[in-house]
Amino acid sequence: MYQLLFRLFFCRMDPERAHRLAFGWIRCAAAVPGLRRVVAAVLAPGHPELRTEALGCRMSGPFGLAAGFDKNATGIDGLAMLGFDHVEIGTVTGEPQPGNPSPRLFRLVPDRALINRMGFNNDGSAAVAARLAARRAVFRPAVGVNIGKTKAVPDAEAVRDYVTSTERLARYADYLVVNVSSPNTPGLRALQATTRLRPLLTAVRAAADRTVPDRRVPLLVKIAPDLADADIDAVADLAVELGLDGIIATNTTLSRDGLTSDPALVQEPGGLSGAPLGERSLAVLRRLYARVGDRLTLVSVGGVETAEDVWQRILAGATLVQGYTGLVYHGPCWARAVHRGLAARLRASPYPTLAEAVGAAVRKAEV
Ligand code: FNR
Repeated sequence: MYQLLFRLFFCRMDPERAHRLAFGWIRCAAAVPGLRRVVAAVLAPGHPELRTEALGCRMSGPFGLAAGFDKNATGIDGLAMLGFDHVEIGTVTGEPQPGNPSPRLFRLVPDRALINRMGFNNDGSAAVAARLAARRAVFRPAVGVNIGKTKAVPDAEAVRDYVTSTERLARYADYLVVNVSSPNTPGLRALQATTRLRPLLTAVRAAADRTVPDRRVPLLVKIAPDLADADIDAVADLAVELGLDGIIATNTTLSRDGLTSDPALVQEPGGLSGAPLGERSLAVLRRLYARVGDRLTLVSVGGVETAEDVWQRILAGATLVQGYTGLVYHGPCWARAVHRGLAARLRASPYPTLAEAVGAAVRKAEV
């Protein structure tokens, strides 16, 4: 049904317009109590065996919606209604900004991929904090808050910009993510160098502790798939040294390897997401888990489409798994299909719980 709708309707529409429309429908459905109960009962029925404890939160499962879909925290309940166990909002920047000019989002249908150069279009951390403060939650997914740098802020003042957002948003975050991996803000990825990352993460940690003294807000860093292996190791070591809670791997890639879509689309500048990113994202996860084991919570994202993909990420060391592009290609029943398949996969496995399956494939390979 969704595939038909996608081909006949969404696929002919400008991708950003289609996103706005679909997200509008999701929000509307979630605003009507009777409807939202029915939709949630169908799409998010609950699988007790998938319950997951991570980052100090009890979650209904390990599968969440990645950053970028709900940049301004306007639809958390609607996304939970679709069955996502956690929702990462953002990226939110210190100041509001419009992002890059349109068109800035492209569908590569034969590759089940997207290219985006949105450029952190968002309402800014003050407005998003006000929205989160006013939120009357109907569903209670864990809410991650992903922060990034305002484009107009000079590189030398990047730390201040992240700290401003932390001061405004940390209290509303079940976990906080420092995003240094979007390819669409000039210079942002250079912050992944440990000489730049160390002062940034230290300052964000201190700001979160200062503004939320009664709770330790878990802090994670989100990295790019295009880092060299030595740089992945360096970020992992730094995260452990600084006492971070986790790493989210990965953001979109600049690589265009192996794509079969229209070359004119393939050449569009921006970050590539979806199926072609899967292999690299999994390789980065394996590397991270081999390096840090269970000292950090690893969140795997990039190219995940099926329950089997999620299961493989868990075996490779992920406690939580996220997706975004899969929602575009597989539709509103996506999380439901993932949960069902994952529960069946766990039952058929030798592991009594998901927690015991985390990293099992990497540990086995090391023996
Ligand atoms: C993203 N992603 C993203 N990530 C982030 O940290 N901050 C952001 O603002 C955005 N924005 C964004 C917009 C769009 C249109 C897309 C498709 C993606 C990246 C996203 O969170 C995820 O890391 C990648 O998309 C890889 O996962 P999938 O899409 O392959 O499941």
